[in-house]
Amino acid sequence: MILVTGGAGFIGANFVLDWIAHEGTPAVNLDKLTYAGNLANLASLQGDARHIFVKGDINDRALVAGLLKQHQPRAIVHFAAESHVDRSIHGPGEFVQTNVVGTFSLLEEARAYWSGLAETEKAKFRFLHVSTDEVYGSLGDSDPAFSETTPYAPNSPYAASKAGSDHLVRAWHHTYGLPVITTNCSNNYGPLQFPEKLIPLMILNALAGKPLPVYGDGKNVRDWLYVGDHCAGIRAALARGKPGETYNIGGNSEKTNLEVVHAVCAILDELHPAGAPHAKLITFVEDRAGHDWRYAINAEKIKRELGWEPTKTFAAGLRETVQWYLSNAEWIRNVTSGDYRKWVDLNYGKR
Ligand code: NAD
Ligand code: TYD
Repeated sequence: MILVTGGAGFIGANFVLDWIAHEGTPAVNLDKLTYAGNLANLASLQGDARHIFVKGDINDRALVAGLLKQHQPRAIVHFAAESHVDRSIHGPGEFVQTNVVGTFSLLEEARAYWSGLAETEKAKFRFLHVSTDEVYGSLGDSDPAFSETTPYAPNSPYAASKAGSDHLVRAWHHTYGLPVITTNCSNNYGPLQFPEKLIPLMILNALAGKPLPVYGDGKNVRDWLYVGDHCAGIRAALARGKPGETYNIGGNSEKTNLEVVHAVCAILDELHPAGAPHAKLITFVEDRAGHDWRYAINAEKIKRELGWEPTKTFAAGLRETVQWYLSNAEWIRNVTSGDYRKWVDLNYGKR
């Protein structure tokens, strides 16, 4: 048994599906079901006793304590977070509440539970904290990629809140001996991603014939990681990672935003032609405040020590992703209702 937090979101849901497919052992999934959480992501597990869903907040300490006592998990895999940089610019409070205070609450309950375990279970227990490369700040074009020893320099409220959570996790190991592992990954993409993030937003806007809003000059660079590869990396860290260590997980796939958007358009031109090329919809809009220039991950440590490396090329992963959105119109309809439209107006209305 493992306890997953945030398992109804994009990466968490992919992880729960991946975990049950590969490990076959049960997972308790604690998720608050914010705008980003969606039980439809887990529809294929309906009726499967290996998935136990609990709606609740990681800040609800009595609930977390009760779940740990009841299910006696051998690991906690912590995804729950507010995860979108643009939302953190409009409203940073929730980011501090969930990412910093929520991680603190979870660490405290994990520590209380772990302290009471028998020695053999105690030695095997893991608290795996899923974090981001954004804690390292921004790179120039010729800087070396982020490694595990790159100093923290978060720039957005989102990145600062994740950096805060990473520091708490580190301190709970150093001070109390809690067997933690932190993974810092690059930008994920794949099925089930909420269409506020670059790739699904561009797919959905292009399908609707709406403008494709590229921030600034579109030359910012991200390192794209297919979500299935990320899930395999987390499983490797859980199975073979050393407590107290951090592992960077990246896709070895640096692209400018404009390259990504053009690639989405080219796939749609082929799979879903619209008369005119979809790239005609590209519109340059006002840049994001404090927009980090470049992220890139050096994933040598996890390759060397745990034998993990990404397997999906960006071309193959993006094609599968576009195909997934083309085949899941019902899922799209469900997530693009009232609240989503409010967000689109807030973020893009005045750009
Ligand atoms: P997401 O926004 O799609 O999902 C977050 C999930 O957490 C949702 O299901 C939401 O309901 C849940 N949640 C939010 N607040 C909660 C709370 N207080 N209690 C319980 N559940 C709560 O996010 P994602 O893209 O799947 O990201 C998962 C994790 O991976 C996050 O920690 C994020 O910082 C990290 N990460 C994401 C990316 C990326 O590219 N998406 C990259 C690096 C790191
Ligand atoms: P995003 O998917 O929000 O991830 P992050 O900010 O965590 O890297 O954005 C990826 C890149 O795409 C980032 O440089 C901002 C840019 N972007 C746009 O140009 N237009 C958009 O509408 C969005 C959402 C992002």
